[in-house]
Amino acid sequence: MILVTGGDGQLGTAFRRVLPKAYFTDASDLDVTRTDALAAALEEWRPEAIINCAAYTAVDRAEQEEERATAVNGAAVGVMAAHAAGRGIPFLTFSTDYVFPGDAAAPYLESSPTGPLGAYGRSKLAGERAALGSYPEALVVRTSWLVSATHPNFLATVLRLAGAGRARVVDDQWGCPTMADDLAPAAWAALQAGVSGLLHLTNSGPTTWFRFARAAVALAGLDSGRVVPCTTEAFPTPARRPAYSVLGSERRGPLGLPDLPHWEASLPAVVEGLRR
Ligand SMILES: NC(=O)c1ccc[n+]([C@@H]2O[C@H](COP(=O)([O-])OP(=O)(O)OC[C@H]3O[C@@H](n4cnc5c(N)ncnc54)[C@H](OP(=O)(O)O)[C@@H]3O)[C@@H](O)[C@H]2O)c1
Repeated sequence: MILVTGGDGQLGTAFRRVLPKAYFTDASDLDVTRTDALAAALEEWRPEAIINCAAYTAVDRAEQEEERATAVNGAAVGVMAAHAAGRGIPFLTFSTDYVFPGDAAAPYLESSPTGPLGAYGRSKLAGERAALGSYPEALVVRTSWLVSATHPNFLATVLRLAGAGRARVVDDQWGCPTMADDLAPAAWAALQAGVSGLLHLTNSGPTTWFRFARAAVALAGLDSGRVVPCTTEAFPTPARRPAYSVLGSERRGPLGLPDLPHWEASLPAVVEGLRR
């Protein structure tokens, strides 16, 4: 069987559509930070592939809980990677644009130097290193600005605030929105194709959070003027976020992997799902 951890999260839920016969676990039945239990479960289940969607994703809270974030995003990934290496099975795990400092003027490539600004990014970088350090054949997919119709996320918050009146959204952070329903099949295709190492997968089309929010609000049939731009400075958060974290790829083309759709093409289905 194919094991998918974090199966109740945004991306795990998207994988349920791609791999309906896979075995999905989450924190309630397989807490990946209990590394002995995790290693024992893997020994017992002997999955034919592991897809790790379990993650600590609370970017701001991670500033206070770095140890916990690193246990989920770093150490646990190492345990899964070591098991996969020992058995020579495919292993897919996910990382983030927040491993980059965000001061670039052109898209970050797989080979670009990292330099996380905060605890979440550091914990995810630890996971990348744990995965590829113990298993170079592992596939580590970096993605960004993940949304779906199934979970509370940035878009759900914006639609709620705009529906009630007004949403202030930062217009000076650039990145690539990614729909979980586009990412899951693309990452699975890369794993099946035998791709290993770091791979950047996002929807096409850099934008700002403000522009992304305004497009979603218009699609929801609301006045897009309800989304008001602001600066990062005017919207302080516990964790610093990269100003520019657009992910490009130097690998997808040579590997023959197709680009994901433009986010504008995939957004209507997500907005429709969130409004149901
Ligand atoms: N969300 C984004 O904007 C974004 C951007 C870039 C990269 N990524 C990466 O993409 C991947 C998927 O993210 P996502 O948005 O699907 O995250 P998510 O919705 O937060 O899902 C993560 C899942 O992991 C589970 N989990 C947390 N701690 C666990 C533990 N100790 N043991 C087992 N499961 C645990 C969570 O359960 P609970 O809910 O019960 O804690 C949740 O179901 C992650 O690797 C993330 O770092 C996300």
